[in-house]
Amino acid sequence: MKGTFISFEGIEGTGKSTQAKLLYTYLREKGADVILTEEPGGTQISVKIREVLLSVEHKEMSALTELLLYNASRAQHIQEVIMPALDRGAFVITDRFTDSTLAYQGYGRGLDLQLIDSIDLIATGRLRPDITLLLDLDVQTGLKRNRGINKTDRLELEDVPFHERVRNGYHMLAAKEPGRIKLISVTAGIDEIHRSIIHIISGVLGS
Ligand code: TMP
Repeated sequence: MKGTFISFEGIEGTGKSTQAKLLYTYLREKGADVILTEEPGGTQISVKIREVLLSVEHKEMSALTELLLYNASRAQHIQEVIMPALDRGAFVITDRFTDSTLAYQGYGRGLDLQLIDSIDLIATGRLRPDITLLLDLDVQTGLKRNRGINKTDRLELEDVPFHERVRNGYHMLAAKEPGRIKLISVTAGIDEIHRSIIHIISGVLGS
């Protein structure tokens, strides 16, 4: 694997997608071979799995089914999109990856972290981003922002304590892997956050 794998993570409403797009454009303008993708999604099959996962009609979905579907979607995404790009030396920017599963299904839903880890081994073979940009914001502000743009899916409709557990989970993941996961507080404006992200990426890549 010759490329560079970058993931964006965070609770709802942190502006991850906006920042992922800005980084994508920045790298493109520098002449890099770069792809921008997202989870759950990125392939035709994964988009269908996303619809099943996020539909508000699927209230009866068990936490285990949810875990398996996120991983099924990821396995397809890796095989069809991520690995081919990394193998040819490209930058891959993904809006969410395995840390989302640990934060949402692990810390949020309360599924056993070791169980998640065993399924992750099967689905990803332990593929991990080189750099993870964890955008952090308080839960109330994040949920308000997303509801303001009418973005409400099955996970977003979970209560505030669920999202608090997810946010705390992300903080624990960042504390465990400070070299890979960079926590960025999103109290600043979009441009300023973008500049700090460029600074972090350049530091890690050494250019
Ligand atoms: P988003 O991409 O619009 O943020 O929506 C994806 C939703 O799915 C979001 O609520 C986070 C959730 N999610 C998980 O619960 N586990 C996962 O592994 C991933 C990738 C996303």
